[in-house]
Amino acid sequence: MTSRSNGEPLVRLSGVNKWFGELHVLQDIDLDIAAGEVLVVIGPSGSGKSTLCRAINRLEPIEKGEITIDGERLPEEGKELARLRADVGMVFQSFNLFAHKTILENVTLGPTKVRKKSKSDAEKRARELLDRVGVSAQAEKYPAQLSGGQQQRVAIARALAMEPKVMLFDEPTSALDPEMINEVLDVMVGLAKDGMTMVVVTHEMGFARRAANRVVFMDGGRIVESAEPETFFTNPRSDRAKDFLSKILTH
Ligand SMILES: Nc1ncnc2c1ncn2[C@@H]1O[C@H](COP(=O)(O)OP(=O)(O)O)[C@@H](O)[C@H]1O
Ligand SMILES: [Mg+2]
Repeated sequence: MTSRSNGEPLVRLSGVNKWFGELHVLQDIDLDIAAGEVLVVIGPSGSGKSTLCRAINRLEPIEKGEITIDGERLPEEGKELARLRADVGMVFQSFNLFAHKTILENVTLGPTKVRKKSKSDAEKRARELLDRVGVSAQAEKYPAQLSGGQQQRVAIARALAMEPKVMLFDEPTSALDPEMINEVLDVMVGLAKDGMTMVVVTHEMGFARRAANRVVFMDGGRIVESAEPETFFTNPRSDRAKDFLSKILTH
């Protein structure tokens, strides 16, 4: 996957600010993510985690500051934006697969349309990725025929098929039945081990402990704390993080 040697971060947010009307939803965000780093973003509902993810691939514009991917500033619009956006794979809480396309078609659509791969190359790669996430037997089926956990693994394969430089996951397991959470997390842990750069919004602390290099705690649109997982979970510094952790640990 990504191999870089110049020491520059793969993703850099500097002085990022965003408002929704009066609501200052991202406040002075400075965040560097190194190639191969796995960053878990945690924080209460409404703290700006999803907006942060969406800003990273310009699904949301920012009013102030700068975001670069692999040293390139994200353009406002047009072909260049489509190309750079394809460098950022995104997996959402809801799987967003195309209901009227087969699993295989879901995974080959982007590579053929945006990456201009041939159909046969795209299918070959798609089958490898479906195999990797453990759903190769479902390739000819439609999304509704799969379980939630299988659909989310297809969504991961679909994002990977674009050969992204970084993968963003926004609460990828929170819409899943409990017994399906681990099959998705296991795929994500495998990706992390393979060196994929990942930003993962999740409250799954098991995942954070197994796979994350760093945990960032957000509250009120700010990054309040940033630490290694073990340090963060055992010894959070801020009262806000302590309060948040006591709630999610005891629920
Ligand atoms: N499109 C939008 N328009 C107006 N307010 C929004 C919009 N999207 C999110 N918000 C608000 O921005 C804040 C941060 O939302 P979000 O990034 O979704 O937080 P999180 O993912 O941490 O729960 C919340 O107060 C939310 O209501
Ligand atoms: Mg959210």
